[in-house]
Amino acid sequence: MSKRGIGTRAVHGAKDPRPGPLTTPIVQSSTFVFGSSAEMRRYLEGSEDLYLYTRYENPTLRELEHTLAALEEGEAALVLSSGMAASTTGLLSLVKAGDEVLASASLYGGTTRLVREVLPSLGVTSRIVPPADLARLGSLAGPRTKAVVVESPTNPSLDVVDLRAVCAAAHDRGAAVMVDNTFATPILQQPLSLGADLVMHSLTKALGGHSDLIGGALIGSRERIDEARSLMKVLGGCLDPHSAFLALRGLKTLHLRVHRQCENALALALKLECHPKVARVLYPGLRSHPGHEVARLQMSGFGGVLAVVLHGGLPAAERFYDGLRLMARAASLGGVETLVSLPVHTSHYGYTDEQLKAAGVDPGTVRVALGVEDAADLVEDADRALEGV
Ligand SMILES: Cc1ncc(COP(=O)(O)O)c(C=O)c1O
Repeated sequence: MSKRGIGTRAVHGAKDPRPGPLTTPIVQSSTFVFGSSAEMRRYLEGSEDLYLYTRYENPTLRELEHTLAALEEGEAALVLSSGMAASTTGLLSLVKAGDEVLASASLYGGTTRLVREVLPSLGVTSRIVPPADLARLGSLAGPRTKAVVVESPTNPSLDVVDLRAVCAAAHDRGAAVMVDNTFATPILQQPLSLGADLVMHSLTKALGGHSDLIGGALIGSRERIDEARSLMKVLGGCLDPHSAFLALRGLKTLHLRVHRQCENALALALKLECHPKVARVLYPGLRSHPGHEVARLQMSGFGGVLAVVLHGGLPAAERFYDGLRLMARAASLGGVETLVSLPVHTSHYGYTDEQLKAAGVDPGTVRVALGVEDAADLVEDADRALEGV
């Protein structure tokens, strides 16, 4: 069968409709009954239709894993209890004590802490590299570098990393690459096709899409996912079946939501770019964005998140934030409601001035994660809030 379109895969996953319930049932059971020791043996030999315990695998989780693998075009997927559970489990499956991790300086704050604080305490050294320097990865990676962690577009500065170039350089050095694809989603970018070894997602964001679940996922080759699953069984960060059901329901409209979010982001970016109180709009869809050309090549759309840097620093950003009526003052992204956050109060809280600079975050930055409302209403809300800045 030829490869189906990504919208069809979002709706149907990897299969055709079968007799029985149309939607995936929630198998809300922690354990599973075996009919006999022979059946138990079949399970141990790898039979796909038998289950032992939900922390290991579960029919609802498996359906979600198959759908995610189909969307990212990976051999296999593993779902976990949060995006951070996916990051920790994924990274720990790639390195051991004595190895080194190279991480982009522009990563989600939790992943940065994992790399900067947690891995060194386990004997894994780490180096944080400005995203622009990842282009010369060949000279940065040493013999102990076993993993490279990148995100593109980045949070919240919307830098674009040339993933194909980073993956090729990392592989030349014998290092594996884990890409956080949460901002782009598989609708706009498929890192495995650009050479990545492991794709990581926060399902909490666009994949779930309705701000009603916390979850994470890893997608890659069967071998890498088996490795990550084996570690997840010990670390314990499994997803619960009800959240998996919500994620499966959200995925059915992923393509529709993501395209609408991209349209809304571009409309708002174009409007704000011309406003006298705005110093800069960071959005890869703008021709003025330094990553526009690379984004055009590796993405099929520019994403639903933008950042606005206001003249007047944090006080101006706070006045804008306080003046909003329609856009919700809330962390997170990718849901149907537009959410606005101040990175220095959320993902980059507690950063020193130097750390903010290294991460490319101006204190006057406002991050806008577009929902699926009407663009005209969002533009009007932003315009009114800017009057009070
Ligand atoms: C890009 C990115 N990666 C990872 C995470 C962590 O995901 P979770 O909150 O589901 O643990 C987030 C959360 O904001 C994120 O924005």
